[in-house]
Amino acid sequence: MTESVTQPIRIQKLLSDWGVASRRTVEALIDERRIKVNGETVTQQGLKVCPDTVKIEIDGHEVKDNCSGMKIFAFNKPANVLSSLKDDFERKTIKDFLKDLPRVFPVGRLDYDTTGLLLLTNDGELANRLLHPRFKVEKEYLAVIAGGDLSKEQLDMFSAGVPLEDGLTSPCQITPLGDSTYSVILREGRKRQVKRMFQYFERRVTSLKRSRFGSILLGDLPEGSMRTLSQDEISSLRKVFEL
Ligand code: URA
Repeated sequence: MTESVTQPIRIQKLLSDWGVASRRTVEALIDERRIKVNGETVTQQGLKVCPDTVKIEIDGHEVKDNCSGMKIFAFNKPANVLSSLKDDFERKTIKDFLKDLPRVFPVGRLDYDTTGLLLLTNDGELANRLLHPRFKVEKEYLAVIAGGDLSKEQLDMFSAGVPLEDGLTSPCQITPLGDSTYSVILREGRKRQVKRMFQYFERRVTSLKRSRFGSILLGDLPEGSMRTLSQDEISSLRKVFEL
């Protein structure tokens, strides 16, 4: 008999970690008696199973871990690096930092001069969802500006909606942190959005850094470095869209 090397976990969590269905969907499937574990119909919500050895069927079809080949990394992009994988003008790109990871691509973009958190993955579906406007994943930026602090009225307008040439921006959060620095939390991702929003108020962004993408924090990851996301971080990202 094969020995399990991991602890038993609740079937809802396992199927969500495997990218098969959200926990809520699994609960509904259990209520409808559509899941079998090792040939037995599951009737109990909290059932724990051994991930390494369990055989799970939904509607008679065996399901497997869809995420085992999935890779996701947090990268701290330095300034003067393109967030694409190649450049026609031989500028430095993130590819220069990915020597051992040839098959990942960035989740969205940061401007050439913007620093901070860029997620990299080989999972196109995850990337699409993280960027899809429907899911309103939060992105937090630290912006240093020139041209003076924004007034209370300007801050209110910034957070309520700024009329850019591609339309009014969605509600966001802006918090002055002192020293001409602002935290800006967006739930959409248009091109050069933070810079253009400040530009509307005749302020110039002199430095921009992304410190958070959804629940993932840049933390003290040094510029140009990369780290893998923990299983908890991946699960929390997936929770946004109930995968
Ligand atoms: N907003 C910007 O203006 N630039 C970025 O790189 C990201 C958000």
